[in-house]
Amino acid sequence: MEYIKIKDAGKIVSSCPYVVNNPAKYKNKWKDVFGNNNPIHLELGMGRGDFIINMAKQYPKINFIGLELYDSQMVMAVERLVNQHLPNLKLINADAMNILDFFGKEISTIYLTFSEPWPKKIDEKKRFTHINYLKMYDRIFKKDKRIVLKTDNKGFFAYSLETLSQYWYSFERVSLDLHHDENPIPNIMTDFERQYYEEGRPIYYVDARFND
Ligand SMILES: C[S@@+](CC[C@H](N)C(=O)[O-])C[C@H]1O[C@@H](n2cnc3c(N)ncnc32)[C@H](O)[C@@H]1O
Repeated sequence: MEYIKIKDAGKIVSSCPYVVNNPAKYKNKWKDVFGNNNPIHLELGMGRGDFIINMAKQYPKINFIGLELYDSQMVMAVERLVNQHLPNLKLINADAMNILDFFGKEISTIYLTFSEPWPKKIDEKKRFTHINYLKMYDRIFKKDKRIVLKTDNKGFFAYSLETLSQYWYSFERVSLDLHHDENPIPNIMTDFERQYYEEGRPIYYVDARFND
């Protein structure tokens, strides 16, 4: 997907106090960054940040980290955070490929929200639910593993259910239409989700767990 480039995005993002500019420095030390031992939840590909910011507002006893590759995408999140006080939120501008440089066994939940589906076979390894990513997640999960995934893309959803189950995850909740499920699922919308919801498109959802 092509994203609009914003002038000086790098400077805007790196000067935001919520942004951790050298995340590798804090590997195994995120509890010191947050100043507490609360669970840490990580969103990969947070885009413009609506989801992670609202999660941080709604759940102050959980620490949240939003990671995003493109600084221009992050600018909106940075603007939304002006005059906010969210000590339980940090942002990282980096490639999800590098998460092992940033985290030890510190993460309790990973959110994969409207991740790029990479439909071509040649790009399969870029999918956030490819086995290589699942193996990386193993190395940053603190103990029990939890991946919450939302997508509008049926093919990517089917693929993810397959890789997750092959990797011994079990499914706590699955929905083929998150917003119209007969058993409502607590949910905070992402920027992309809001758009798809307004268009009436179904959102696929899975809450996958692996408990030792
Ligand atoms: C379709 S958007 C979804 C954004 C947001 N999660 C939402 O639901 O509104 C996918 C996001 O993932 C980001 N992304 C793609 N590949 C990435 C990578 N390897 N590491 C970090 N972010 C990535 C993109 O830049 C984009 O912002």
